[in-house]
Amino acid sequence: MSNHQEVPITRVLIGFASAHGSTKGVAVRIGEIIRAEGFDVDVREFDEIDSIDAYGAAILGSAIHSQKWLPLAADFIRANSTALTARPVWLFSVCSIGDSSSFFSERMARLMRRRRKEPSIISEVRSRLDPRDHRYFAGVIERSQWTVAGDLFLRLCGGTFGDHRDWPDIERWASGIATSLQNEPGSAQRA
Ligand SMILES: Cc1cc2nc3c(=O)[nH]c(=O)nc-3n(C[C@H](O)[C@H](O)[C@H](O)COP(=O)(O)O)c2cc1C
Repeated sequence: MSNHQEVPITRVLIGFASAHGSTKGVAVRIGEIIRAEGFDVDVREFDEIDSIDAYGAAILGSAIHSQKWLPLAADFIRANSTALTARPVWLFSVCSIGDSSSFFSERMARLMRRRRKEPSIISEVRSRLDPRDHRYFAGVIERSQWTVAGDLFLRLCGGTFGDHRDWPDIERWASGIATSLQNEPGSAQRA
């Protein structure tokens, strides 16, 4: 049974934490897609969000560093987990191995996807938050951001530096969310 009470869905929050900007780019693109479907969308870094009261739905994402969501994102989820249970929530992680693209060779990515553990903050709040989905997107990696050991690991795994974001996948995911929102009981925008 859903634990969502009906907060009217006219405004949608897209919250993100990004160390080098690629997660921000994903959040902005998701925002453009949802906005194009007639929703009022705010795309905000987590430390710019005072309250989620005005929002009927939330799409929250973070870069992954050292297998974890960035501290700003994890702190936000913990601090707002009660308010978030009253709303439909989608989560996304930007990291080295997305669901549809990755930094590494396709064979290595397939192996790594099977062994991947969800970031701990998501496991921690999953039972309360009941997210509609959690999607992984590959991000961007530049040589200057990576350690020598990381550089070696990347090469051994058939990886490459650069922008590995799969924009059609990001756009499809966002369009799916817009359709779900249009079908929510409290939605002003009908599909
Ligand atoms: C210091 C550092 C640590 C990282 N740790 C991980 C990790 O543990 N797992 C992973 O899948 N990707 C990891 N990555 C890759 C990032 O998640 C990826 O580069 C992402 O696009 C960063 O997003 P941002 O540009 O918004 O900061 C790491 C990147 C850096 C620079």
